[in-house]
Amino acid sequence: TTHHPFLSAFPKCEHHIHLEGALTAPLLLALSAKNNIPLPSSSPDQPPTLDSLTALLSPPHSSLQAFLTLYEAHQTVLRTASDFDLLAWTYLRRAHADHVVHAELSLDAQAHTARGVALSAAIDGVSAARRRAEAELGVSSRLVLCFQRDRPVADALRTLREAAPHLASGAVAGVGLDSCEAGFPPGAFAGVFAEAARLGARTTAHAGEGAGWDYVRDAVERLGVARIDHGVRAAESAELVARLAAAGTLLTVCPLSNVSLGCVAAVRELPVRRFLDAGVRFSINSDDPAYFGGYLLDNYVAVQEAFGLSVGEWGVIGRASIEGSWVDGGRKREML
Ligand code: ADE
Ligand code: ZN
Repeated sequence: TTHHPFLSAFPKCEHHIHLEGALTAPLLLALSAKNNIPLPSSSPDQPPTLDSLTALLSPPHSSLQAFLTLYEAHQTVLRTASDFDLLAWTYLRRAHADHVVHAELSLDAQAHTARGVALSAAIDGVSAARRRAEAELGVSSRLVLCFQRDRPVADALRTLREAAPHLASGAVAGVGLDSCEAGFPPGAFAGVFAEAARLGARTTAHAGEGAGWDYVRDAVERLGVARIDHGVRAAESAELVARLAAAGTLLTVCPLSNVSLGCVAAVRELPVRRFLDAGVRFSINSDDPAYFGGYLLDNYVAVQEAFGLSVGEWGVIGRASIEGSWVDGGRKREML
């Protein structure tokens, strides 16, 4: 990264980072000890070490599902508001080192409430870290509650209603849709997203990562989202590419994630050039930095090494990232 001083200093917005995916090996060990929760991936006679955990977290992962299974197992160490505070603060401080000026943090609410953690504990912990990042680092942030598409729609609706006061207070800015994609098309959640919009939530959905371009179209048409997480397989339809460009839809592309999970063989296979040429707006993101071999700057560098973009092209990406952020015009002007 020292070879890329321009990218290092570039002010960045990150829109697609799952806090649970920022549970690094040192955090896993610390929270496991603090809460007296054994790490599920370890055998009883061999407690995990920093090295063994780091190896377990390292890419590649054999599939999206294999990754999700490990990711869900590790989340059990998160119990209290202060655990979520530590997790979010550790990420935000690390992001600041990459010159991230604004971050939109995803949280899988249902994964935590399903194992007995109060929704408000998770949200309050993240809020504390966000306030500290704003005050001490000048990093603005938002919280996105993601519904897990492989859980029942009724469960998502119940979670949304429980989150309503947090949407009203601004502790939660919007909702998303994540987890195992194939076989769980976005349209099933149309009612949930319509109610979320009525509650004033911003909306986004994972699509075009683990399933094809038709899931991206479904998310745009039936969920009414102005943002798509991943979205890279939209490139398989010229008509959809033109439509995304015309609508100004922001795709939150995650290069190292896509390689780590085998969605593409290498970063150079991503439709970065295609999207730039077609005028599709996108940002670059880390998705689950503890699992995919890098934080935000690593993802920027991987794109640069694959595509050799010009300073002007980076300017286009940077402006789209700011414009597509869930902040007011004043904050956008500060970042431009
Ligand atoms: N949750 C965390 N990371 C994810 C990903 N890459 N795809 C779907 N759900 C996720
Ligand atoms: Zn994701």
